[in-house]
Amino acid sequence: MHRSHHCAQLTPTDLGATVSLLGWVDSIRDHGGILFIDLRDRKGITQVMFDPKANPAIGEQAAHLKPESVIGIKGKVVARPEGTVNAALPTGGVEVDAIELTIHNISDTPPFPLDDVGGDKVNEDMRLTYRYLDLRRPKMRKNLHVRHKAAKSIRDYFDSQEFIEVETPALFKSTPEGAREYLVPSRIHPGQFYALSQSPQQFKQILMVAGVEKYFQIARCFRDEDLRSDRQMEFTQVDVEASFVTREDIYALFEGMLKKLWQDVLGQDIPTPFVRMPFHDAMNRFGVDKPDVRFAMELVDFTELFKTSGFKVFASTATGGGAIKAINAKGLADLTQGELKTLEEIAKSLGAKGLAFIKVEGGEWKSPIVKFFSETEKAALTAQLGVTEGDMIFFAAAPWEKACAILGRIRLEAAQLLVKRGKMTIRHDDWKFLWVVDFPLMSHDEAENRYVATHHPFTAPVAEDAAYLDSDPKKVRGQHYDVVLNGMELGGGSIRIHNPAMQKKIFEDVLKIPADVVESRFGYMLKAFTYGAPPHGGIAFGLDRMCALLCGTTSIRDVIAFPKTQKGQDLMAQSPTPVTAKQLKDLHIAIAMPE
Ligand code: AMO
Ligand code: AMP
Repeated sequence: MHRSHHCAQLTPTDLGATVSLLGWVDSIRDHGGILFIDLRDRKGITQVMFDPKANPAIGEQAAHLKPESVIGIKGKVVARPEGTVNAALPTGGVEVDAIELTIHNISDTPPFPLDDVGGDKVNEDMRLTYRYLDLRRPKMRKNLHVRHKAAKSIRDYFDSQEFIEVETPALFKSTPEGAREYLVPSRIHPGQFYALSQSPQQFKQILMVAGVEKYFQIARCFRDEDLRSDRQMEFTQVDVEASFVTREDIYALFEGMLKKLWQDVLGQDIPTPFVRMPFHDAMNRFGVDKPDVRFAMELVDFTELFKTSGFKVFASTATGGGAIKAINAKGLADLTQGELKTLEEIAKSLGAKGLAFIKVEGGEWKSPIVKFFSETEKAALTAQLGVTEGDMIFFAAAPWEKACAILGRIRLEAAQLLVKRGKMTIRHDDWKFLWVVDFPLMSHDEAENRYVATHHPFTAPVAEDAAYLDSDPKKVRGQHYDVVLNGMELGGGSIRIHNPAMQKKIFEDVLKIPADVVESRFGYMLKAFTYGAPPHGGIAFGLDRMCALLCGTTSIRDVIAFPKTQKGQDLMAQSPTPVTAKQLKDLHIAIAMPE
């Protein structure tokens, strides 16, 4: 049961040695009765030869083998005959002439090819159902290694900075202020529930009160959210908190972490410090709070220009307090009717009334709206958008934030269409890190007609804005920061409120949470803060998202060993499932099925 070497190890220096190898049958080739088997283990591949003429017993045994069977062999390292050397493999100059074969298990035929190219073509549900086979593919094996390396790099970094890793509970108290929580019924306390921790936020702040000063944790978090390619119900954060820090300390600490991470995993040096972009600029220029700045196509503001326009839709929006924004998708004039329709639908799904456009083709502006534009308006558009032949201009007229968000999304879609046409290149390894800063502390929830915390209620206001907390909360910026990479939010955090009176004021006076509710949900935290809470701040990074970017994939499911589907199912083990009446009874739970 022991191997003398692994399958990526043997080279011509081992010629003549007797070796033993263990692993899976990667492929079988029959060359006139002689069987050549590529034997695979976690390290690589070695070719093994079974010659029935020289050794009839082993030939007989090997004839039963099927791909993916698990075997052990003993044999002699020999040189491959001239013309059969595989220069692409480190082990390609040698093969092992088998003397003994142990068959540990014959495999059934896998339901899909386990090479990278073949496996990528397979429906993801199939891959998730047979995840143990999917994880045998070289690409997936590499992703697991990258994740291991990333976690180790991060642990080493924080250790070197004298942070200690502290574990916090997964079973926590329900505090329905943030994402929707998973509830866990208590058997011992009928009718009462725990919530699975959305993040260790409150515990890490309490650890600061406890005097830990420098905490980190690679922590599992749970959120009952709609799943997407960058969202799972169960995901991993690199969670950090430190006492006596300013925003500048946090920026430097995390630029250091990311620099080391990219060096350790990819051997690449990423330039620091990162660009810092205020939230307002990010929205105004890129239409999103997580801008992908690998390409320009920036939003241009034409609100002033169109105030007196003959095109009434624009004029009334511009004079009514809204904004007119435009982008130039250079080279996209060959957009098809179908593509245009899709873009319009996307815009409408974001609340747009329409998606006005100008197609610049054959020296002409083809558009349903240019007939309303004056020469001055056309000249200004040409100058500010750099309009030339082949361009496609899109407009949004709406309240500022909505206009930005609509065009921000159209900008990303247009970029994809240009990439598809080979007119633009966006490299996944063109690493454009950003700090997005100066978010508003509060946003107004129109539906509920109250203020809600933009991030979470523990974020400290920017000191010079705190005076507006009572008069105009919208004006107050939070001491919050996000790290964004190539259009993905990698992490976010803030300097926290450490003064119990200020924290109480935010809960009760600004967020309008009734005092008794504040007491029952957060009373323990406010109490802890009265026993000497140090000034503190921190951040949490999505480990899954970082690993996805490091692996060059757009889906975090590719870097999670056993992810859930978009519908929240585990297709391999088949969950969720109903449970027995007895289990429910023990938990004092009755089920009311939806109609
Ligand atoms: P936040 O909610 O922004 O902050 O989460 C931090 C980071 O975690 C990642 N993330 C996710 N990854 C995968 N699936 C999800 N469902 C998911 N949700 C979040 C993102 C995100 O940037 N306690 C605060 C942090 C702090 O203030 O220190 C928090 O949890 O990469
Ligand atoms: P209409 O005057 O409604 O026929 O619109 C003329 C063009 O302007 C159409 O292409 C619409 O899609 C577009 N449009 C209408 N309202 C808006 C708006 N608020 N923002 C951007 N484009 C719009």
